[in-house]
Amino acid sequence: MERGNILIKNASELVTCSGFSLKKGKEMNDLHIINDGAVIIEEGIIKAVGATQEVLKSISEDDYEVIDASQKTVLPGFVDSHTHFIFGGYRAEEFSWRLRGDSYMEIMNRGGGIINSVKGTKEASKEELIKLGKKRLNSMLSFGVTTVEGKSGYGLDFETEIKQLEVMEELDKIHPLDIVKTFLGAHAVPKEYKGREDEFIDFIIEDVLPIVKKRNLAEFCDIFCEKNVFSVEQSRRLLLKAKEMGMKLKIHADEIVRLGGAELAAEIEAVSADHLLQASDDGIKAMAQRGVVATLLPCTAFSLKEEFARGRYMIDNGCAVALATDFNPGSCFTESIPLVIALATLYMKMSIEETITALTINGAAAIDKADTIGSIDVGKKGDIVIHEFPSYKFLPYHIGVSTVEQVIKNGIMVYD
Ligand code: NIG
Ligand code: FE
Repeated sequence: MERGNILIKNASELVTCSGFSLKKGKEMNDLHIINDGAVIIEEGIIKAVGATQEVLKSISEDDYEVIDASQKTVLPGFVDSHTHFIFGGYRAEEFSWRLRGDSYMEIMNRGGGIINSVKGTKEASKEELIKLGKKRLNSMLSFGVTTVEGKSGYGLDFETEIKQLEVMEELDKIHPLDIVKTFLGAHAVPKEYKGREDEFIDFIIEDVLPIVKKRNLAEFCDIFCEKNVFSVEQSRRLLLKAKEMGMKLKIHADEIVRLGGAELAAEIEAVSADHLLQASDDGIKAMAQRGVVATLLPCTAFSLKEEFARGRYMIDNGCAVALATDFNPGSCFTESIPLVIALATLYMKMSIEETITALTINGAAAIDKADTIGSIDVGKKGDIVIHEFPSYKFLPYHIGVSTVEQVIKNGIMVYD
């Protein structure tokens, strides 16, 4: 029996999320479900999808590792399209200050926040970061995540930014999860550049970005566009430069203050704009028109006690919405997909179907991978998760608890 050859049969619901590009507006409700479904994976790639009886006609079961998914729901692996999972040190103390009433930006403005994690990440060796990263990826896997996006941004200097990206490069080789890397050198203003933000952007553009590009250390470039961090103008300058160099774009936009990040994302045709708690109506409509994925991060809003992003309004206005954890040591120290599902369905007025689309095919679109992952379609990677209940409707119903039973990555059972 070849590795990566699996037959999953008798799935009570085979939720394919079928599609090869982002799903906008109403399309997000269509999950393309096959009852009593089967999937065949050969050498890691999906070869057949359909009703069990049909699929079994053309094969011999002896050629496969057979999984009987009776009474189970089968879904594509989740795509967590926005995380900052490589960092040294923790910020539990800051969290306790926030519980007392201090705001995230107050803590950041007095020298804590991201800068605090920069210190911890500079001090950590590559080996330590790899060890921590592995543990975190294992936890993500247990929630059914098969592809994760990871950002740098806890370095803010050449060595540490490169170190973070190299750590992810190494983890991608040694861990079953696929990692898509994003360069977020402009995540905060380091102390020595306070008041000289433009010079810091120059440094990122001239000294770091070209090496990141040359060494192929990141596919995306991102920036924290926010009041007292980087302006819309600075964001435009950096991101257009990155685009010119052939990188794809993401932007932390309109999270705390409405600066016009959503409008900028549409203007420069970013692949995604993320957070968007304060995004304007016009910004949202412009994103819908340009096909910019709106990546919403409800666990962050929850953790910061902010209003949730207007997911319902975005979908009703034709946006493609993705959901992700934003796992990071400050604003959102959780990699919990069940929590994302709970918040999206209970508090953001998103349907269960939209929520699942947002975590699968639209998550894939948010990292420009909808052609290879995010749905159970012939030709895509064999990234499949078996959930313990007979319907996808159990995912939000079992509040805050993972329903994941088995995870298959590239046709190999990696979590059982
Ligand atoms: O996406 N908003 C900026 N960046 C991260 C937070 C990073 C941190 O606090 O360490 C975010 O929420
Ligand atoms: Fe983030």
